[in-house]
Amino acid sequence: MAEKIIILDFGGQYTQLIARRVRECHVYSEVLPYSADIETIRAAKPAGVILSGGPASVLAEDAPRCDAGVYGLGVPVLGICYGMQLTAHLLGGRVERAAQREYGRVRVTMDDRTGLLAGMSPASSNWMSHTYQVAQCPPGFRPIAHSETCPVAAMANDASHIYGVQFHPEVTHSDEGRTVIQNFLNLCGCAGDWTMAAYAQTAIANIREAVGEAGTVLLALSGGVDSSVAAALIYRAIGDRLTCVYVDHGFMRKGESEQVVDVFTNTFPVRLVRADASELFYADLAGVTDPERKRKIIGADFIKVFKAEALKLGKLDYFAQGTIYPDVIESGQATGAAVIKSHHNVGGLPKELGFTELIEPLRMLFKDEVRALGEALGLPHDLIWRQPFPGPGLAIRVIGDLTPEKVNIVRESDAILREEIKSAGLDSEIHQYFTVLTGVRSVGVMGDERTYDYTIALRAVTTDDFMTADWARIPYDVVRTISARIVNEVPHVNRVVLDVTTKPPASIEWE
Ligand code: XMP
Repeated sequence: MAEKIIILDFGGQYTQLIARRVRECHVYSEVLPYSADIETIRAAKPAGVILSGGPASVLAEDAPRCDAGVYGLGVPVLGICYGMQLTAHLLGGRVERAAQREYGRVRVTMDDRTGLLAGMSPASSNWMSHTYQVAQCPPGFRPIAHSETCPVAAMANDASHIYGVQFHPEVTHSDEGRTVIQNFLNLCGCAGDWTMAAYAQTAIANIREAVGEAGTVLLALSGGVDSSVAAALIYRAIGDRLTCVYVDHGFMRKGESEQVVDVFTNTFPVRLVRADASELFYADLAGVTDPERKRKIIGADFIKVFKAEALKLGKLDYFAQGTIYPDVIESGQATGAAVIKSHHNVGGLPKELGFTELIEPLRMLFKDEVRALGEALGLPHDLIWRQPFPGPGLAIRVIGDLTPEKVNIVRESDAILREEIKSAGLDSEIHQYFTVLTGVRSVGVMGDERTYDYTIALRAVTTDDFMTADWARIPYDVVRTISARIVNEVPHVNRVVLDVTTKPPASIEWE
């Protein structure tokens, strides 16, 4: 890996965003805890180091501090918010509690528009969130920006290439934040030539090295984006020494299981075991209506089936899974680029199956990067750009107890909804859309006959992060087509309703 930026995490809420922004400039970046020892940082051979923001005060006794050796690595350092205050504090400047806390978009005047602030407007709106600030720069530094209440909104030591910004260039609320990040990368001498195709080659080489000439790997293929990309990547590295177990619980969307089996039989011909376990799932779920119990039963059955299949295969050397970077950072396990790490508890499964080592080839990638990698590897576009789909699948989109007939109603109506949203050209605007078989039956009339049949709800949302969501304004003409097709084409549905609830208070799924 040629160029790399190391980001030391001081607990700031935007640390992952810093990593993303750097990667968006085509420079690879990794987050390490602030306490990473200097030898680890040096061994990573970074082109530069960024110190993140964080909630602490550098003046506190127990303030988190990085090894001051980072300033002596001979590569540029950029401190952001807390990272800047820490830099000032450690290098002999003065940090004080500000007379007034700055929070939100603040107008910052750029006093020296060269180097870190090259190409910036004379003043711009930037995101601030701080109670403390640098009152006096350390020796060798000079202020290069200020705001109304913050005398040192950015500082620079041109000789040693150490910089600080009090504002957050990584958040989109900072008008020219990207310029600051790009300028820093320029100061680091980064060429910005990191691509997914290049990353794939490195990742493939790493997997080969880790698994060795004859090693074998077992992967639990869920049919989702992450495990599919992991499988394709590992296949490229070791071919059919990769065995994938695909547990088909019978709650996948229309055509989905067939697509997974097709891709991993024809395009990436791994050793594929498809366990068709729907009978077991239906038997264990019979009469169960409580959503949490449904989820638990499905989770437990999944593990039971996977385990039984894995045991039949005999001993394989490594267990692989599609863990992605946000999971790694959130669980505090970001320890560098190693493709393999010793035991990690995934529902206890690897341990129960006797695996002591895991292969997680996506553990340094964000979700959109995983998708880009999938495309670089040649996975089908619609598999890669699939909307999120819950592990328990359609089972939690049938309210109340499950029968194959009810699951089929939701599967068929969902396929119609997906088809119509796509043909209306709305599929990239609406982030998630699906149908729900409500527990309600109602009276209708079909021909001259009275009917007493099911009600399908349409759920479609727009969202940035799936934590909050708005209901999507699907044009009424499109709604009308969807509704007409569902009642005409799906047996036992005589009514369609539209869910117009935001999250919160509703969740996106109904169960
Ligand atoms: P809710 O319903 O909580 O959903 O608003 C938020 C997002 O998470 C998805 N979701 C799941 N994803 N396993 C998953 O991998 C699950 O059990 C699960 N439940 C909900 C949901 O589809 C939405 O995108």
